[in-house]
Amino acid sequence: MISVVDLPHPGKRGLLERLVFRGIVFNMSWEDPEMDRRALRVGPDDAVISISSAGCNPLNFLCQSPRRLISVDGNPAQNAIVELKLAGLRGLDHATFFDIFAARKPAVIAKVYRMRLRPQLSPGARAFWDRNLWMASRGLYDFGKMGMAARLVRFLLPRLGIQPARIEQFFELQSLEEQQEYYERYVAPRLWGPFVKWLCKSRWFMYLCGVHPRQFDLVDGRHDMYKYVKERIEYALTKVPIYDNYFLSVTVTGRFRGNRVPPYLLEENFETLRNNLGRVTVVNGWLGPYLDSQPRGSINKFNLLDIFDWMTPELFEATLRSVLRAAAPGARLIYRSGSYRLDPPPAILSQLEPHTELARELFAADRSATYGSFYVYSVKNGYVPPDPAPTTARDLATVHRP
Ligand SMILES: C[S@@+](CC[C@H](N)C(=O)[O-])C[C@H]1O[C@@H](n2cnc3c(N)ncnc32)[C@H](O)[C@@H]1O
Repeated sequence: MISVVDLPHPGKRGLLERLVFRGIVFNMSWEDPEMDRRALRVGPDDAVISISSAGCNPLNFLCQSPRRLISVDGNPAQNAIVELKLAGLRGLDHATFFDIFAARKPAVIAKVYRMRLRPQLSPGARAFWDRNLWMASRGLYDFGKMGMAARLVRFLLPRLGIQPARIEQFFELQSLEEQQEYYERYVAPRLWGPFVKWLCKSRWFMYLCGVHPRQFDLVDGRHDMYKYVKERIEYALTKVPIYDNYFLSVTVTGRFRGNRVPPYLLEENFETLRNNLGRVTVVNGWLGPYLDSQPRGSINKFNLLDIFDWMTPELFEATLRSVLRAAAPGARLIYRSGSYRLDPPPAILSQLEPHTELARELFAADRSATYGSFYVYSVKNGYVPPDPAPTTARDLATVHRP
């Protein structure tokens, strides 16, 4: 059985959040695992905590055999994907696991779900997949909010004059010079017109892309969303090798290309992942309250994605205080932001050692075309955080929910 922890769900979520950020939003984790691997340097003595999203990055960390892996998400549907992948690692061979989670022949899941996957799932995940197995059977990357957004992109590109055959050629290019030349000739003149500008400024389309309402305000407020999206996509298409960019391949072609997949899908990692399953805990709940429930100084590596873009400044600071309290001496944390700059609050910054050069170097090779900035910090040795104030349900409701 997969070890699953259900934290109480504090307070009522806003209408928008209940409408958009429920069910599967992220059908794939949009953080480049190569950046995470080199930034966090996970080792066999490490207890690692990662936001789940679609579970890709927690499983990529599991390939490095940490002592313990905690995958936490406030949206239980995201953790249902994590559980299904964990059940697949335990109950299937690599070929079938790849067929389903690389969406090579996803329909095979209908044959194996009842006997080999369902029995391992928690009651919540079982109920979810009993209702929604069709999504996995038809290919996860076409579903969830981001799947809808990606299908819309694939519908629009040919109508903007960017034909599938051209796109296929683009993903086989082997040099940045070729990419630059190709982008200027076939992509830029057709892509950046008034319709795409309107789409990038459209909150609903960006919500479908997984941009949280607060994140939209943060990015659009500071950088104009259209200019930001154009700059990020142009960067990824011309300054980062496209050949193994599976983020963009899945979005604009609907599929992975051969073995150009996240590490957890590779055959060479399958046995390691399977042997490490006992080290995983899946947590349905928000990061702050979960960390406050953990022993002080018990976690070594923190992968926090862009959750701070979803938060008020008070929650940003409160959550980082919970991180500092749970952090072992010399612990490392990484996070991203849609904004080009989102430093930790001053009160927290003084307790952190920045790895600015490493973050800059890794960010320059980011294949995801999603973020404006990337942060790598170590917790200063000797920092002893105060014990968190006792949290009541009301506190949890007001302080710790995005
Ligand atoms: C921040 S979002 C962004 C995901 C990212 N852009 C991606 O594409 O993978 C990732 C996940 O974080 C979860 N999340 C956001 N804030 C959280 C928090 N404070 N605690 C736990 N999960 C959180 C959301 O439910 C979502 O599944």
